[in-house]
Amino acid sequence: KPRVLSGITATGKLTIGNYIGALSVWAAEQDRYENFFFIADLHALTIPENIKADALRERIKEIVALYLACGLDPAKSVLFQQSRVPAHASLAWIFDCVTPVGWLERMTQYKSKSQTATPSAGLFTYPALMAADILLYQAAYVPVGDDQRQHIEITRDIAQRFNHLFGEAFRVPEPLIRASGARIMGLDDPTVKMSKSLAETRDGHAIGLLDPPSKIRKAVMRAVTDSGSEVRGDAIGPGVDNLLTLFEVLSGTDRASSLRQFEGQGYGTLKKAVAEVAIERVGAIQSRYTEIRADETYLEKTLIEGAEKATAVADRTLSTAMRLTGLL
Ligand code: TYM
Repeated sequence: KPRVLSGITATGKLTIGNYIGALSVWAAEQDRYENFFFIADLHALTIPENIKADALRERIKEIVALYLACGLDPAKSVLFQQSRVPAHASLAWIFDCVTPVGWLERMTQYKSKSQTATPSAGLFTYPALMAADILLYQAAYVPVGDDQRQHIEITRDIAQRFNHLFGEAFRVPEPLIRASGARIMGLDDPTVKMSKSLAETRDGHAIGLLDPPSKIRKAVMRAVTDSGSEVRGDAIGPGVDNLLTLFEVLSGTDRASSLRQFEGQGYGTLKKAVAEVAIERVGAIQSRYTEIRADETYLEKTLIEGAEKATAVADRTLSTAMRLTGLL
């Protein structure tokens, strides 16, 4: 089976964007691949002003419990915490030395995030760590949302540059991005991507995977739509497009049939339908989550076993890279 690897950064609460673009795809395709899914906790340190140690510890457990609640099965997928596999940080250093500064300067995420805080060196070299995450496992595919495209592109470039400079060590991976739902937009502003970080400060921006039904309903009913008042297939703006997409991916339909259902209906009808499918899906995840999150022993056991399996694979690749560079 071809191997896939992906992860979620342990900053902020997971949104339905993370679920639709990433988690739901990982879970649905588990039998087709050999799977590695991790919690990117090292990536959570890039903006140190935002870190609270207790909150990060809690977030890591929350994410592994959500992985399990969304259907990732430790018998089919290696689930692990990045920092427990030291090879990630080691290979990241080697990649820091292989990656031209110019490539990092072109990353749009760095350009936008470095506007706000005092940008750290880690924020700048983040793509080298992400390349290490992927390339250590010789992944064939990386299932991600649309916003990660540029990161996979630079990962491919780093793999090729290393292979060229030192010899073949890394498989060049492909992104795996779903056709519809790969970029869920903010409910309060359909021109920006729904994100964990905006959800922290803006009520009504996101549907959180752990939000109660009342909060979800409120956020969806207040969602920014277009200037009209009813759904018209020939004039769909970004707000209505986002609501239709949410409805389609959560109810398993497509644009043609959702338009048949909502054409000529008021926005309120569409919003109610979106709220219902979202509450239903998130509710099912939450009831499993509550049970799993309470079992600390099981969560810890999952992370210990995951780290062992991941380390075995990652260390082999790291040794190859160290031999080729002369470190070994
Ligand atoms: P992160 O934590 O921002 O997001 C995790 C995953 O969720 C997807 N996603 C979305 N998909 C659709 N619509 C949205 N609004 C939306 N928001 C987020 C992301 O595309 C991603 O797939 N750099 C990564 C974490 C990472 C990683 C890796 C991923 C670190 N190393 C190696 C893959 C492979 C990130 O910050 O994702």
